[in-house]
Amino acid sequence: MNIYFAPLEGITGYSYRNAHHRLFTGIDRYYTPFVAPNYTHHFKGKEKADVAPENNTDLPLVPQILSNRAEDFLWAAGELYDLGYREINLNLGCPMPTVVRKKRGAGQLADLDALDRFLEEICEGMDSQYGLRDTTDAVSDRWAAASGAEISSNPDIAGSADEKGREKEQGSLRFSVKTRIGVEDASRAADLLRIYNRYPVCELTVHPRTQKDMYKNTPDLEVFGMFLEGCVHQVVYNGDICSMEDLLALRERFPQVDTVMIGRGLITNPALARELQGGEKLCKRELRSFHDALYEAAVQTLPGTVPILGRMKELWFYMGANFRNADRCLKEIRKSRNLVQYQAAVRTLFVECEL
Ligand SMILES: Cc1cc2nc3c(=O)[nH]c(=O)nc-3n(C[C@H](O)[C@H](O)[C@H](O)COP(=O)(O)O)c2cc1C
Repeated sequence: MNIYFAPLEGITGYSYRNAHHRLFTGIDRYYTPFVAPNYTHHFKGKEKADVAPENNTDLPLVPQILSNRAEDFLWAAGELYDLGYREINLNLGCPMPTVVRKKRGAGQLADLDALDRFLEEICEGMDSQYGLRDTTDAVSDRWAAASGAEISSNPDIAGSADEKGREKEQGSLRFSVKTRIGVEDASRAADLLRIYNRYPVCELTVHPRTQKDMYKNTPDLEVFGMFLEGCVHQVVYNGDICSMEDLLALRERFPQVDTVMIGRGLITNPALARELQGGEKLCKRELRSFHDALYEAAVQTLPGTVPILGRMKELWFYMGANFRNADRCLKEIRKSRNLVQYQAAVRTLFVECEL
């Protein structure tokens, strides 16, 4: 079973990913929270730091782009390629009203013709620039024929080309998509799938909720099954995997699923991937070390008490669930107004409450 760490904007930035990767095993790939390029073609400071290779030296990382303008997407993909990334993920799932109003993220699922044109433009752009590598022969051949690209696996031919040409011939960039299944409902899910099937997508991660669901209701496994049956690409499942029982139930219904992406389950229990691979359960000592690493990073990188406490309290919203009979201690953490109070409340939680 491959396990990917889902992107969570505001939580899984580079400090979090590095601390997690240093202390816990079991993750095959991390994804960055989205970068959202606009017409200015500059990354914001925070985005730049998050994708900077020197901040991500030791972990398998896929950067994610949120955009509905091909020109901006291609600019960002080019920047990320130049930084050394060889897979780019497109966010077609963000349900936040501020994003959806601008017809981005899950908002792009409202107009499938526009989405189709956007995918056509970005795939053509990436293919002509870098050569899009696809794992699905059927789409590769069709795409190569349609786009006029030559795909050769002959190393002699590849060896005689200059470096850019060689990369392009072999296909040096992978393009993956993370999607929801609709906006108001999933009535256009089959049409959406037909669109994805036309493009050289190396992996399609499906979070089977609609935009309107936000994070409520339960993932629609009927529709996920339809994607799994009909998709010509590798499909990754995402949504509400928080325990071994959740994973076993998914595998029982869909034995062919071999990759899951997990978000909130891992933020709650950072050892979840290890546990799902048959490893040790989370222990208090390592949770304390992880917390301390995240706290240190927050103090180093955030500008002042309010954002530091905001970041840490958001983490406790999830991590608090690991402790038994911890309501009073968790309330003290939530009530803390400065770093001294915060540290004292955390100390009490770790001393008084068991996992
Ligand atoms: C606070 C928060 C931030 C998120 N940020 C992103 C993001 O930047 N990009 C993205 O594709 N999904 C984002 N997501 C969605 C998650 O990656 C994931 O798809 C979702 O939480 C469902 O998976 P889970 O049930 O395993 O958490 C975010 C979710 C949350 C709760």
